Amino acid sequence: MKKISPKIVRADFNDLTAVVHYTRAAHTLGLWASERILLDRYFPDKNAQLLEAGCGAGRVAVALWEMGYRHLHAFDFAEELLAQAQSLCIERKVRITLFHVDAIHLAACSILSDIRFDGVLFMFNGLMQIPLRRNRRRALRQLAAVCRPGATFLFTTHDRDSSPTEQALWRLEARRWARGRQDPVLREFGDRYYEEAGIGRTFMHLPDRAEILADLVATGWQHEHDVMRRAVAAESRSVRDFSDDCRFWVAKKFAPSPSHG
Ligand SMILES: C[S@@+](CC[C@H](N)C(=O)[O-])C[C@H]1O[C@@H](n2cnc3c(N)ncnc32)[C@H](O)[C@@H]1O
Repeated sequence: MKKISPKIVRADFNDLTAVVHYTRAAHTLGLWASERILLDRYFPDKNAQLLEAGCGAGRVAVALWEMGYRHLHAFDFAEELLAQAQSLCIERKVRITLFHVDAIHLAACSILSDIRFDGVLFMFNGLMQIPLRRNRRRALRQLAAVCRPGATFLFTTHDRDSSPTEQALWRLEARRWARGRQDPVLREFGDRYYEEAGIGRTFMHLPDRAEILADLVATGWQHEHDVMRRAVAAESRSVRDFSDDCRFWVAKKFAPSPSHG
């Protein structure tokens, strides 16, 4: 049985079922109430240079334009989703620089060579859909590299400890891993690979809070804030149907103080 790889994850996102799912959300759902609140709070400058990683069919990127942000770059590694984002931009007369790249190969992207972003977004758990922690750290490092010191990073993850039920499920999963009885396609404890009607196959790594805090420090980011979505806003039924609760993270690109040389 094949282990989960970036190639498998990308193929799943390019699959028609996933493309229809994310395109529908881009056209009809738009921003979650919680996303809008945090964007207003942490990205007050509409003239900021913003980069959206894992933009999919454009749900967030197009909404950012409609909120008044005017300097937007967005990328995804799934060509079919990116084509949908492109069509939506044309339809809504939105100007966003869209490009195709894998977040773990961002450094090789010539479009970004002259820009230092004021902010980066990786919404709806996209970062956690990169298999292997070393690759997620690589993406975090490369996102930091295209930002100016002090730039703001907003992203989401699940949280294995978010409820007593989750904790109980993960205790059982830990026992499976200890006995070598985990799903053989998985790479690391915390991984899940599952299929849902109308969405298709999904790979997701579910971290605990300590893991993300350590990854931020290791990759040039300073943790600023984190909060579960339910504590930010009560989402509509359609948002809750589209997405489970998650943890929002806000970090700043590390800016060495003069005493650090
Ligand atoms: C859950 S979807 C969210 C899409 C969109 N941001 C939204 O909120 O509707 C995660 C997105 O991240 C993208 N993604 C996952 N891994 C990626 C990677 N390594 N590089 C670039 N994009 C990636 C997927 O193709 C997908 O579009």
